[in-house]
Amino acid sequence: PNYEYIITSRPEPNVLLIQLNRPKALNALCSPLFKELNQALKDADRDDSVGAMVLTGSEKAFAAGADIKEMKDKQFADVYKNRFLGDWADMTKIGKPIIAAVSGYALGGGCELALMCDIILASPTAKFGQPEINLGVIPGGGGSQRLAQLIGKSRAMEVVLTGRMFTAQEADKWGMISRVVGEGEGQVVKDAIAMAKEISEKSQIAVQAAKEVVNEAYETTLTEGLKYERRIFHGLFATNDQKEGMAAFAEKRKANFTHS
Ligand code: HXC
Repeated sequence: PNYEYIITSRPEPNVLLIQLNRPKALNALCSPLFKELNQALKDADRDDSVGAMVLTGSEKAFAAGADIKEMKDKQFADVYKNRFLGDWADMTKIGKPIIAAVSGYALGGGCELALMCDIILASPTAKFGQPEINLGVIPGGGGSQRLAQLIGKSRAMEVVLTGRMFTAQEADKWGMISRVVGEGEGQVVKDAIAMAKEISEKSQIAVQAAKEVVNEAYETTLTEGLKYERRIFHGLFATNDQKEGMAAFAEKRKANFTHS
């Protein structure tokens, strides 16, 4: 498909790379960009040849937030009636893993976009933040809730109330991201693609089940979550990939998953 605000490619046969491509506005997330992003993710989720996805921006900016110029004149009546950001969390319904490769600014909606991905890898240049407070508003794309869950109350309060940026190293220390990758232009994208490739070589049924159960931990109690995990675990014994994976181990060979 021909997109205007994103670039999609296949750096590996089973990996989809989505690059936000609005460089002049530091990848500010205008509505059409977001629409294209959701479309690309939904298409990939339905495409059997895609095992995992990587979402990235540019060296300078993952995304500098929602588009402030697009938002500035909106009224309550518009945003409410027309459900502004109604499609914002659509990507949390995607079954396949999405890895965020963050370089440069990930601010406001940009930080929240990374937080909706399954794994975040950051370049040493990454700068996260929720600066909405400086615009007279608050995070609107999940930042207050996801940060509170991930980095704890005091840190979430600090970054949401002061709007200050925090570094990749802080995000790492706080447990918000998987890790800070080595220096060098493009390194974070390379590492994310390698991780996505590794994931795409597993049983895609098991991968989606694993994503589903980890996500459940953020939605429910421990008792319910453990029950949920056990049910899904049991269910995987109905798959060919479970038979193949365990037979391959016993026969000391590499598993040949058929995603069935
Ligand atoms: C619209 C933006 C933008 C944004 C940058 N630009 N961020 N346009 N919305 N969020 C535009 C600038 O207006 C400018 O356009 C061009 O991108 C380059 O930006 P500069 O400011 O000139 O670059 P620099 O001096 O390097 O500063 C980088 C920056 C700064 C620190 C990231 O751009 C900045 O503070 N941006 C806003 C960050 C922010 O407040 N984000 C939260 C948005 S609210 P021109 O035309 O002048 O060249 C939000 C709510 C989320 O995200 C709700 C849920 C989705």
